[in-house]
Amino acid sequence: AYNGLALTPPMGWNDWSYYQCNISEQLILDQAKALVSTGLAKKGYNTVTIDDCWMAKSRDRNGNLVGDSTKFPDGMAYVGSQLHKMGLKFGIYEDAGTETCGGYPGSWGHETADAKRFASWGVDYLKLDGCNVPSVQGQSDEETYREEYQKMSQALLDSGRKIVFSESAPAYFQGTPDWYKILQWTPKYGNLWREGWDIALGQDNDKWSSIMANYGYNVPLGAYSGPGHWNDPDFLLAGDSGLTADETQSQVVLWAEMAAPLISSTDLTKLSPSALAILGNADVIAVDQDPAGVQGHQVYSDATYDVLVKPLAGGDKAVVFLNKSAKQQTFTIGSQELGYPAGAKLAAKDLISKTTTPFTSSVSATVPAHGTVMYRVHTTG
Ligand code: GLA
Repeated sequence: AYNGLALTPPMGWNDWSYYQCNISEQLILDQAKALVSTGLAKKGYNTVTIDDCWMAKSRDRNGNLVGDSTKFPDGMAYVGSQLHKMGLKFGIYEDAGTETCGGYPGSWGHETADAKRFASWGVDYLKLDGCNVPSVQGQSDEETYREEYQKMSQALLDSGRKIVFSESAPAYFQGTPDWYKILQWTPKYGNLWREGWDIALGQDNDKWSSIMANYGYNVPLGAYSGPGHWNDPDFLLAGDSGLTADETQSQVVLWAEMAAPLISSTDLTKLSPSALAILGNADVIAVDQDPAGVQGHQVYSDATYDVLVKPLAGGDKAVVFLNKSAKQQTFTIGSQELGYPAGAKLAAKDLISKTTTPFTSSVSATVPAHGTVMYRVHTTG
């Protein structure tokens, strides 16, 4: 990676999907404490990111960014130091344009100073959104975004601190031919990038279709992803109402299979035992964090189900069956379609139930409505 960071997909928590602008020092630190007390921090969810609306409405007299003194009475560096004391990393949000999506001061024209300021606050991770990027005469918007993200990328490298860089540029070009042009350069300048629409907010009711939409546009993009540079299909909603346990499980499994960043955005102080078990499943997390860093791809897809394969370091494969239909079904896939030679002796460990089943010619799974089964397949002789 260009900065040596995020060799496996970033993990953590962000306030946006659940709280939007209703944030404060108290809320952020309470959620950070919950990340630690639930045990999720130890499992890898270690970066707490404050999204939009943390700033004062304007820069100070010297042009510096300042936190909103009502929401963050002790300042942003204090929040960072408290997170660091808990063993967590400090993430913050800014925007490449003149204003953030929420109307707060953007970094356009202030890249070097803002990167230095973040470094002085102990920031470890920057999400740079792409609202309000002005059109520049004589060049395409794609070029303007490229220049802007490159500037911040360099400013972070020069800031004196190791800062993971999350880019949002592709999200602003989804569905246009420039989308692919942008995905050519995002891996050079950043560690992860939002490539499309926002996942449903905590209070929206059609969360499953939002999860399926984000999965659908992320799954073909494996060529752009790898150690140090990841496709980001947006937040995990585990813990929110409006999803069944199977749907909650499916999102985490699919994100892990796609080597996506695992960034929870819910109220962690109210996690149900089931949501906590889903987020904290160490075998599923290990698939996401596999050092080979290969994004899983579809080997079969029709209207009712998909089968995905993710090659893992050491030769195992993570195989996912996704039931897109509204009734339980049993699906089968041949070993050769999974990439094994005919006659190979194989075994599939179900990473949710933890049972292991030997097989040779094909493997099956009975999958509930909107559910997934995730197998870790290995050869046995
Ligand atoms: C955009 C981003 C969201 C969030 C908001 C904040 O919509 O995609 O993730 O950061 O802006 O305003």
